[in-house]
Amino acid sequence: MALPMSAWVSLIGTVPCTTGRLSRVRAADFQTAGVKFKHILTPQSRQLGPKPATSPVRGHINAALRADKFSTTTTLWKSGHGSASFLPQGGRGWLGKFALGATLGVTAAALVQSLHTGTFTAMALKVNLNSADGDWKEAKDFLLSLSVKDRRQYYRTSNSVPLDDIPVWTPTADASKSGAYERNEKLDQKISLYSGDITKLEIDAIVNAANKTLLGGGGVDGAIHRAAGPLLKKECASLHGCETGEAKITCGYGLPAKYVIHTVGPIAQGGVGENEKKALRSCYKNSLKTATDNGARSVAFPCISTGIYGYPPEQAVHEALATVREYLDAHHDKLDRVIFCVFLPTDKELYLQNLPVYFPAA
Ligand code: APR
Repeated sequence: MALPMSAWVSLIGTVPCTTGRLSRVRAADFQTAGVKFKHILTPQSRQLGPKPATSPVRGHINAALRADKFSTTTTLWKSGHGSASFLPQGGRGWLGKFALGATLGVTAAALVQSLHTGTFTAMALKVNLNSADGDWKEAKDFLLSLSVKDRRQYYRTSNSVPLDDIPVWTPTADASKSGAYERNEKLDQKISLYSGDITKLEIDAIVNAANKTLLGGGGVDGAIHRAAGPLLKKECASLHGCETGEAKITCGYGLPAKYVIHTVGPIAQGGVGENEKKALRSCYKNSLKTATDNGARSVAFPCISTGIYGYPPEQAVHEALATVREYLDAHHDKLDRVIFCVFLPTDKELYLQNLPVYFPAA
């Protein structure tokens, strides 16, 4: 039944629901719903039905549930299957209650669906990842609330590579490569060596070899910013830089990766001492910690500092592999995959030679 929103609102606006008074829902709240979704749940009520919190509407609802912030309406939805039933207290017979409940149940579900669609469309229309004019916070909230499938329409790069298409590296039993590390079977299936462009990887987080300003540059930093779009730089600017060895996280925006973890490697033009080694290890360790702190379970690293910053790749590979091995020994339950993303054939060779030392077979 196509009724204007105000009619639906007046219909349900004053009906007490089964488990509590429904405070008066203001028509204005619903009418602006298409632009900005008003939360219609109270902290006590459960989520609407079993639908996953992947849509923007549920993302907003869950965000509100988490933040305990509720704007205008406090509708207790009887959870169950995304439906709600409002039955007047006392007064009407069971048939009246049933009829009204059924009608309102459908109304409520239709209303949530229309809000869902309306909000989704409104947000989708508002998110423009090609323009620096957008509100990066709003775009970030919206994108992070989407499932991988829903987010694909926003990628600014073609030929993204899903995690399932990135093969797991399996060590071959090669006694000549025995080293300081014993095999840890918990780490089987958790390491990948991938040759190619890190900006294509459809995973939870890619690591950016950034500089201290975090405002972009050349190399992998430039590639990541180009693929993500201008809102990445806007969010980076809000982070006020990053010290060598530290790591900071942003949304991936137009990238297939959900997040970008920006870290600043040591500059090793004049050679590598203890300070440079320590700083490079910190980049890998702090990036992994930032990932797990944010629930990212698949992470890809470029060969940090081995390009413009001049760290010798044949030395950097040991700091990278040792740090990742030690972090996974301690936190293997928090990560599903760590991907070493190499761009140069020489780097690929270096990793193939040294992976068996840090991740030996039986
Ligand atoms: N995907 C994966 N790896 C890449 C990509 C890419 N698209 N582009 C470059 N690389 C590799 C390089 O081949 C190198 O092995 O990333 C590694 C790191 O090289 P740089 O990007 O030069 O990074 P780094 O040496 O850490 O220097 C950082 O360079 O880009 C600027 O702003 C950045 O000032 C900072 C400095």
